[in-house]
Amino acid sequence: MRAAQCTAATLKALWRTRRKSLVPIDQSGVWRFRELLPPFSDEQKILTLREGNTPLYSLPSSARAVGIEYLLAKHQGMNPTGSFKDTGMTVAASVARREGFRWVGCASTGNTSASMAAYAARAQMRSLVLIPHGKVAWGKLSQALDYGAITIELKTDFDGCSRILNEVVDRMPVYLLNSVNPYRIEGQKTAAVELLEQLDWQSPDHIIVPGGNLGNSSALGKALLELEELKFINRVPKLSIVQAEGANPLVRTMRETGGKKLISVQAETAASAISIGSPASWKKAVRVLEQTGGTVAEVSEVEIAWAKAQIGADGVGCEPASAVTLAGLKKMVEGGFVKPGESVVLILTGHLLKDPEFTLKFHRGKLFGGGPPPRVAEILAPYRRAPIVLEASGDAVISALKQAEERSEA
Ligand code: F0G
Repeated sequence: MRAAQCTAATLKALWRTRRKSLVPIDQSGVWRFRELLPPFSDEQKILTLREGNTPLYSLPSSARAVGIEYLLAKHQGMNPTGSFKDTGMTVAASVARREGFRWVGCASTGNTSASMAAYAARAQMRSLVLIPHGKVAWGKLSQALDYGAITIELKTDFDGCSRILNEVVDRMPVYLLNSVNPYRIEGQKTAAVELLEQLDWQSPDHIIVPGGNLGNSSALGKALLELEELKFINRVPKLSIVQAEGANPLVRTMRETGGKKLISVQAETAASAISIGSPASWKKAVRVLEQTGGTVAEVSEVEIAWAKAQIGADGVGCEPASAVTLAGLKKMVEGGFVKPGESVVLILTGHLLKDPEFTLKFHRGKLFGGGPPPRVAEILAPYRRAPIVLEASGDAVISALKQAEERSEA
């Protein structure tokens, strides 16, 4: 059955019923919506780790911090391998298995490789990972290794890895699992579908997403437009994209060419997952911005660090690349694009524990070489909690507790 063949009400009811099913593909938060995915006749061949089904949290403290009343976060970091990549990978890896590929491959800033390696391992396919040497967070790299990928660190950046991978897939029977793979985009659409279901099909005013290679923003935008066309929703939320100042090709493309010509950059940001200078899906992202009425924003390294700690202060946490959404929202509120009474959903793309080095450096005050300027340090100070080393005595711990109590009352 295809979505266009039945009413929205019928499908909404069917998708809800599947939540109670014991069948693996019904339990998947991607395949549960399979009427919106490309048809897959042999369901036995589907590879699922029960991806999707991610929580929607309120972020009250972060809402106050940016000056809006109500803020939600859809936490895609709560997927099986800890990032949104699983929602697309379940579909694309299933296609690779169906087509009989022995090898799958990707270039990655970390999360795609972790996800691809996991799904490949489930199907006993071999996986080839190309990552930029020294620029991938250890949490992600260790996943790819455990899942058995052949992991090659190339002495280049992500864009260089992508170029080499394209050459490899032209010359060898390796199935390409980067986000240009259309099946990945189709799977990633389901995050928007699940979000709207969680909101009882009432569209928020804004959805804000980080931008790297721009596959995810393209996928979410595609889903929103399809949902409107199929009459699941009667209003499309504005989908906005945030990048790091040091990896801002889309922002520059919009600002300097009105979205007509890609401005590539040499990417450099501690939010390593989105350190991408020449995004493959930039044209699709421009179209999504135009069709949904969204905007772009760029945020500094200090703003990213602040936003990540602030999301942590709500008891949620995420990886640096995901935190750009809150930092970008702050700018959009200050600039008037987001009004204080409007509803906003941030897409948190990766799990807090993906990049513990960033977090530890932040709390130890070592994230910024030479230290941030004094005013910035003042903004960040209340969020810092470096581990305290003490002699093993109850008195010492109680004294530390009292000092912390005094500081929080001050
Ligand atoms: N957030 C996280 C945590 C990511 O890992 C990525 C991309 C993005 C955001 C940006 O998404 O590329 O679809 O615009 N990571 C890729 C990777 C590039 O290789 O894991 P995008």
